Amino acid sequence: MTADEQKQAVGEAALQYVKDGMKVGLGTGSTAAWFVHAIAREVKAGKRLTLVSTSVQTTQLAESLGLTIRDINDIGQLDLCVDGADEIGEGLALIKGGGGALLREKLIWEQAKTCVVIADAGKHVATLGKFPLPIEVEPFAFKGTVNRICDVLLEYDIEKVPVQRKRDGQPFITDGGNLIFDVACGAIHDPAGLAHELKSLTGVVDHGLFLDLAEVALLGTDTGVRTVYP
Ligand code: 5RP
Repeated sequence: MTADEQKQAVGEAALQYVKDGMKVGLGTGSTAAWFVHAIAREVKAGKRLTLVSTSVQTTQLAESLGLTIRDINDIGQLDLCVDGADEIGEGLALIKGGGGALLREKLIWEQAKTCVVIADAGKHVATLGKFPLPIEVEPFAFKGTVNRICDVLLEYDIEKVPVQRKRDGQPFITDGGNLIFDVACGAIHDPAGLAHELKSLTGVVDHGLFLDLAEVALLGTDTGVRTVYP
């Protein structure tokens, strides 16, 4: 199976967690998009679901498929969130944010009773950090914030400079109006410590380390969908 076929397989497989009447968060990215398509099919077939979205991109896709996306503030706690990831490490520690939606994704994940991560098998790694870690930064005084991020990275033996994400040559702006800096860490040996230190910096809105949030991962492999628990 190609990576795209694996993504489609796990997008479909995640339907096993979706029950009639549930409140469901829709993730962002090419894998989550397969889940959104599967959900659209289920809703057309009569399943009653209340849906919220983790990004403008996903809202646009969902609405183009005839789905109604509700405001999370009107919904409250969710039963389920299904989303992709950029890396899946030990204990289902994740790097997310490759699509730039990490803040809204984390806000939705933290409001869901169950979070299911879906990905092609290539995302499963022994040690997090090969995929550059996205860090969302408030634009005001961002240079000072980046300097403090570098100080924290050094404490974790990561001598890498955060690279500002660009799109079409212009700074990438998140749905929340912030900047993204990507750090090619190489290896993150203490994800919990790094996550805590980064989050404590003024000017860091959030980072792409999602720890202790995923309850289960569905991984697309050549031989089918593999279920992985923390
Ligand atoms: C977006 C994300 C995505 O879930 C992550 O980048 C995976 O994307 P894809 O399924 O396209 O590989 O975190 O912010």
